Amino acid sequence: MAFQKLDFIELSKEEMKKRSGDFLEMMKSRRSVRNFSDKPVPRQIIDNIINTAATAPSGANKQPWKFVVVEDPKIKKQIRIAAEKEEKEFYGHRATKEWLEDLNRFGTDWQKPFLEAAPYLIVVFKQVTDTSRKEARKNYHVSESVGIAVGFLLAAIHNAGLVSLTHTPSPMKFLQEILKRPDNERTYLLIPVGYPTKDAEVPIISKKSFDDISTFV
Ligand SMILES: Cc1cc2nc3c(=O)[nH]c(=O)nc-3n(C[C@H](O)[C@H](O)[C@H](O)COP(=O)(O)O)c2cc1C
Repeated sequence: MAFQKLDFIELSKEEMKKRSGDFLEMMKSRRSVRNFSDKPVPRQIIDNIINTAATAPSGANKQPWKFVVVEDPKIKKQIRIAAEKEEKEFYGHRATKEWLEDLNRFGTDWQKPFLEAAPYLIVVFKQVTDTSRKEARKNYHVSESVGIAVGFLLAAIHNAGLVSLTHTPSPMKFLQEILKRPDNERTYLLIPVGYPTKDAEVPIISKKSFDDISTFV
């Protein structure tokens, strides 16, 4: 492995405080949105967002992710039909009473019109093996790596002035089939990206307090 000098510029304490505070304020206004407009989004923005996700760290730098971007209305419709079939089962039979109670305050149900309305659906796959060599090799810390990349992706979407939803129709195998993904890939998340509708609403929620989520030792 060859090495190069780290590209690092030390910032002043003031600059660090300002930057971290500004980033916090920006991220505080991110929300999961379920009402998408069909207003088009320039492709360049989607490319930038995915390239941002691709800067994420990953176990042994295996980068075990694939971002399949769906823009074809026919495929979006197919995905909506298949997702709603699973969600109908989930809300009608599969979900436990507690799970439905937890979901109740978000006003969600089996209907997913945003899967057709949003200009882009980014379907994230995790790659359980690396098939770039002759003999397939296991990838390491796959879920952790893809989770971090998706965190970068969601932050980049918000930073670009767009909205997203982290969606997990359960089970999600139908996405592997519709999108004809290879055997070494598993569906990880489905993320519609676009603009909110003019009258979009989000549930009033709160985040845990700093004291709840952190402790210094
Ligand atoms: C792993 C994961 C799965 C989720 N699955 C769904 C989903 O299938 N449908 C949905 O409407 N929201 C889903 N959400 C969104 C959460 O409900 C939302 O993030 C949470 O209520 C907090 O709201 P916020 O994102 O606006 O802060 C999911 C979020 C995560 C992180």
